[in-house]
Amino acid sequence: VNGGDVLVVGGGIVGLAVAWRAAQEGLAVTVVDPAPGRGASWAAAGMLAPVTEARAAEAPLTALGLASLRRWPSFADELADEIGVEPACLGLRRDGTLQVAVDEDDLRALDDLRVVYDLLGLPAEPCPVRRCRQLEPLLTPRLCGALLVDGDWQVDPRRVVDALRQALARRGATVLTRAVRRLDVDDALDRCLGVTLDDGTMLRSASVVLAAGAWSATVAGLPEHCRPPVRPVKGEILRLRPGRYPAALRHVVRGSVRGTAVYLVPRDDGELVVGATMEEAGWDTDVRAVAVRDLLWAATELVPAVGELVLHEHVAGLRPATPDNAPVLGPTPVVGLHLATGHHRNGVLLAPLTGDAVVAGVLGRPTPDIASGFSLGRFASPSREDGSMSPAGGAQRAPADLVPGRPAPCCLTPKRSRP
Ligand code: GLY
Repeated sequence: VNGGDVLVVGGGIVGLAVAWRAAQEGLAVTVVDPAPGRGASWAAAGMLAPVTEARAAEAPLTALGLASLRRWPSFADELADEIGVEPACLGLRRDGTLQVAVDEDDLRALDDLRVVYDLLGLPAEPCPVRRCRQLEPLLTPRLCGALLVDGDWQVDPRRVVDALRQALARRGATVLTRAVRRLDVDDALDRCLGVTLDDGTMLRSASVVLAAGAWSATVAGLPEHCRPPVRPVKGEILRLRPGRYPAALRHVVRGSVRGTAVYLVPRDDGELVVGATMEEAGWDTDVRAVAVRDLLWAATELVPAVGELVLHEHVAGLRPATPDNAPVLGPTPVVGLHLATGHHRNGVLLAPLTGDAVVAGVLGRPTPDIASGFSLGRFASPSREDGSMSPAGGAQRAPADLVPGRPAPCCLTPKRSRP
């Protein structure tokens, strides 16, 4: 069966962004995912936070994040325009982020962060307590300091996924809600032919883009030297809604409360997303009582009124993490096989740039300079003379019952069929 010019394996925000860009280039596109948008994109809070996610040792990733952030406003405008809605419908908010401290230890950690930001030349401004209170009156009376990062924004990933699916439908692209049984590669020619679906259908395509998030290393038939070193890192997150008392914030509020990192992401409709755990738990997507306790404890330490909100949803998702926390983008040694995976904590932020970079590779155009350091080749083992990859590089195999036909993350609330 003809799978079009480009076949994207994985219908999360990254795969859909690649598919949309490809469709905009006039390519015939098929996306395959048993549950589009129900992986990490479903759990994600949607922070666009290259600064408050920055780590001193990850300067190239921060630069990539800043470059993708710059693309977000036009990406959102274009997407909204294409499906005939206002850009605000995608939940892009540019109110900035407050990184706060509630005790002396936090304050010292904030000072350390400032040093890192200065080192990387990132914009963050100390925000005196009085000003913080003006900006966010619901912050705890125990607040003792903060950094204001105007440039860290947020978007609603579920709405973006929905919009991308609509845009793809308008452009005649196909989204198949099926699992991939295996990738089909002609070993003699070192060429990717397409995929075989769980029902045995063989889809043929000149280009296959592997964008299956945490599952990207587990697809059967993937040649060892093309396997991205991706492993799952579990994140549990809460969605709260106003009850009798709203707890409206304008800014994203982040902090580390006695070692527990937490972020509070307010949406226009009154929803507050509180995240997230970081768990090396393999393929486990259980939602744990202790995660609710820890996240709510940390969140109420920063904003006590959060305790009045209604717990609406508790979701676990799996971040696709790599050894250097950065994505794997672009062509592989196998002709016609491209990667768009490994986005770890930054999939939503990096979606626009990933779309541009990966579609450039599919079209045989040069990778944008900013993305050129994020190819699979950076993980090549120096001991291999042919320059190909060392096996798996930390990737974990999924249990057989998760691939294909992985379950959507667990929810306390009944799942809606559409975001
Ligand atoms: N982007 C934040 C997280 O992955 O928890």
